[in-house]
Amino acid sequence: MISLENVTVEFDQRRVLDDISVTLAEKRIGIIGANGSGKSTFARLLNGLQTATSGTVRIDDFDAAHDGRKLRRHVGFVFQNPDNQIVYPVVEEDLAFGLKSLKLPKAEIDRRIDDILARYGLFEYRSHPSHLLSGGQKQLLAISGVLVMAPRYIIFDEPTTLLDLRNRNRVERAIAELDQTVITVSHDLDLIADYDRVLVFENGKIAVDDTPANAIPKYRKMMA
Ligand SMILES: Nc1ncnc2c1ncn2[C@@H]1O[C@H](COP(=O)(O)OP(=O)(O)O)[C@@H](O)[C@H]1O
Ligand SMILES: [Mg+2]
Repeated sequence: MISLENVTVEFDQRRVLDDISVTLAEKRIGIIGANGSGKSTFARLLNGLQTATSGTVRIDDFDAAHDGRKLRRHVGFVFQNPDNQIVYPVVEEDLAFGLKSLKLPKAEIDRRIDDILARYGLFEYRSHPSHLLSGGQKQLLAISGVLVMAPRYIIFDEPTTLLDLRNRNRVERAIAELDQTVITVSHDLDLIADYDRVLVFENGKIAVDDTPANAIPKYRKMMA
């Protein structure tokens, strides 16, 4: 369970998240809102990429203020732009990088890499230069890099914004198949239309917290 209590984030005295208290226990949670409303800041709080100026952020047994390292292992984060996520020049090296830090045996590392590459149709790209993958393949590799670490939660920050429709659909399917709890920030309202719960951010606050069927029309009205 994710639980925020009176969380405020300020940058240079400017309040970007304003006294947010919310508990999230659903399996699929969507986050929408205008540019600059605080969505990414909120998402980044959940795995310790961003610290709260005040208030507490708890995920399961972890307190984000004290358990940053463990939290980042527990909560994976997929960035909008896979180029910011893929750090190694060869596909398999990129996937092995995090696993080595877990000190897993080589055989287990190889097994996990094979499994994840097969799952996303990237098996033949194991020894391929990562930068030569297509945009969609790069996003799937970025997701793979998070998944091999077996986190309990996965946060996606606008995972389909840079993709064409076919790759958007691929990534949507990949997310739908995940066993993990998923939190997706998106401007793509179709992506979150069948989620369990949707939060609409406005000026650093949660303005709407409802089912997609209710929240999406409210959001459309807010943006009209
Ligand atoms: N590291 C930072 N330093 C200063 N301002 C930031 C930083 N990160 C975000 N902001 C500001 O906080 C506000 C909310 O940003 P963000 O959470 O990225 O919004 P969203 O994802 O909804 O577009 C924006 O005005 C942005 O410029
Ligand atoms: Mg953002």
